[in-house]
Amino acid sequence: MLCCYWVGTYSVFGTRSGGLTACAWQFPSFSFPPNRKIRCMDAAGLDSNGREFDTAGDMWREQVGDPTKKTQWYRDGVSYWEGVTATVDGVLGGFANVNEPDISCSEDFLNVLFSERFSADARCQPLVALDCGSGIGRVTKNLLIRYFNEVDLLEPVSHFLDTARETLGLGCQTNSNMHKAVNFYCVPLQDFTPDTGRYDVIWIQWCIGHLTDEDFVSFFKRAKVGLKPGGLFVLKENIARSGFVLDNEDRSVTRSDLYFKELFSRCGLHVYKSKDQKGFPEGLFAVKMYALTTEAPKRAPRKKSKIATNRPRTIH
Ligand SMILES: C[S@@+](CC[C@H](N)C(=O)[O-])C[C@H]1O[C@@H](n2cnc3c(N)ncnc32)[C@H](O)[C@@H]1O
Repeated sequence: MLCCYWVGTYSVFGTRSGGLTACAWQFPSFSFPPNRKIRCMDAAGLDSNGREFDTAGDMWREQVGDPTKKTQWYRDGVSYWEGVTATVDGVLGGFANVNEPDISCSEDFLNVLFSERFSADARCQPLVALDCGSGIGRVTKNLLIRYFNEVDLLEPVSHFLDTARETLGLGCQTNSNMHKAVNFYCVPLQDFTPDTGRYDVIWIQWCIGHLTDEDFVSFFKRAKVGLKPGGLFVLKENIARSGFVLDNEDRSVTRSDLYFKELFSRCGLHVYKSKDQKGFPEGLFAVKMYALTTEAPKRAPRKKSKIATNRPRTIH
């Protein structure tokens, strides 16, 4: 999921033996068709073997174009992670060293969101978060549980969720009356609908690439009902330089920033704030955080232009 290959103009961040291996290799012959106006989902992409696809549509048709293929896509994604050890190194594809900068950058982002969206006076109820594709609960344990009174975890791979329950469940050190992991859902994102109005933040990190575009959009549309008024999604993901990159090994897709923005707009979501991850080792994919809201951002009132102000008026 996390390693990076260099493919022409792409930076590719995919699995290599389940790793975040910083291997660099080149595809000198790959280039986009010249002068083609690219709507991002029409943009060309590659798979991790360097095979080109003219559009994302072509890739999705080939990969999940009928119900059997789609079932296989999701089965392969989960099987991949079932073969990975339930450790920080395992869920980070052999790059345990990114844990610290990842959490630290996420914490800075979360602090900004807290100060702007969840001021102490406005909080009259406990703060609740959902950690999607939580793996072993790394993000909950190192970050979310310190900021939220209750955290739910959702993860389709049972041995990951068992480990999360062991470190975060009832009776664990991290678990207090004020800050606790409450529900552990062993469900994939594409099959999940949250309880209405439960969450202040739905955190989705390094797992949305497993969803097809169609399921991406239907997941966010369903999950909106799970947000409290004023709540938001935080999506943290690897970013392809352009188009997309299909990982044949774990059946996931790394999308470009433009690709994500097109999907957000199909979901009816607005980017409230975004931030680039800093401090990762060279050669890895770029990583971005997006805070997404269901309400459109308020526009600053437009200033009267000088032309309008200076226009002569009729005196009645
Ligand atoms: C790279 S790990 C990231 C785990 C965790 N978010 C973290 O940052 O430590 C990817 C996770 O996505 C999970 N995953 C795979 N397919 C999924 C799906 N369809 N829905 C939700 N999670 C999925 C995997 O089981 C794995 O735990």
